[in-house]
Amino acid sequence: MTTTIRPLVHVTNGIAASDGAGVKMRRLIGHPGLRMLDPFLMLDHFHSDNPDDYIAGFPAHPHRGFETVTYMFAGRMRHKDNKGHEGVIEPGGVQWMTAAGGIVHSEMPEQEDGLMSGFQLWINLPRAEKMKPAGYQEFTPDRIPVEERPDQGAALRLVTGKTSRGTEGPVTRISTQPFFAEVRLDPGGVFEEPLPRDHTAAAAVYKGAIRLPRTGYEQPGEVKAGELAVLGEGDLTRIEAGPEGATFLILAGRQLREPVAWGGPFVMNTEGEVRQAILDFQQGRF
Ligand code: CO
Repeated sequence: MTTTIRPLVHVTNGIAASDGAGVKMRRLIGHPGLRMLDPFLMLDHFHSDNPDDYIAGFPAHPHRGFETVTYMFAGRMRHKDNKGHEGVIEPGGVQWMTAAGGIVHSEMPEQEDGLMSGFQLWINLPRAEKMKPAGYQEFTPDRIPVEERPDQGAALRLVTGKTSRGTEGPVTRISTQPFFAEVRLDPGGVFEEPLPRDHTAAAAVYKGAIRLPRTGYEQPGEVKAGELAVLGEGDLTRIEAGPEGATFLILAGRQLREPVAWGGPFVMNTEGEVRQAILDFQQGRF
């Protein structure tokens, strides 16, 4: 049996976007060049040491029908919602919010200056779970396991999923079976992991550059900091670092293959369900 390595099939540096009360960011998934990557609906990367770019934060706003995941590299964000959850997300920490049937929350910077850098990922929920009660999982950096792989020149912090070496991430009970990890590679390091063959997979590069094989080319493709690599199907994910090493997020998940009706912060299966979400929110039923 031969092992196929997932090839690099698409690279995007996204588009400049502004969200919340004017937070500046790059949208890597959820733009005209990459509408979505089932089950991933959106991936935003905010990265700025200019407070004007982030200080206004994301005041109270609703979500329904999916999950939001916030992972920080620098800076602190305070989260508060109408179900009684509150917490501060710190570098290396994660907040996994299952908005499902509806939640209203705010995400505000817990600092007035300095670098603010992090990612927010939106993961779709299957039809059967879009209206279940909202859920919330938050883990401080010390509760995220680190798996050292000296043989690969790699170390990974696993938020969710299970690695081939047995490490399990603390976020559990997510039906798209996601794999979400921050991977650090030494110069020339090679990360290898057999993610499920038909799961969507992508890598968002935070620092340095990564190299991935391309079908029909002898030379690998290079993906730099600020860019997103979309991986094709295969048995093995194999990502090599450039001469300066690399830090990236690796994301994978089961495709839902369901119709998507998207209206701002509501992602449902039909337009009627989106209209109902707007009505429910306006009438205070979240
Ligand atoms: Co939000």
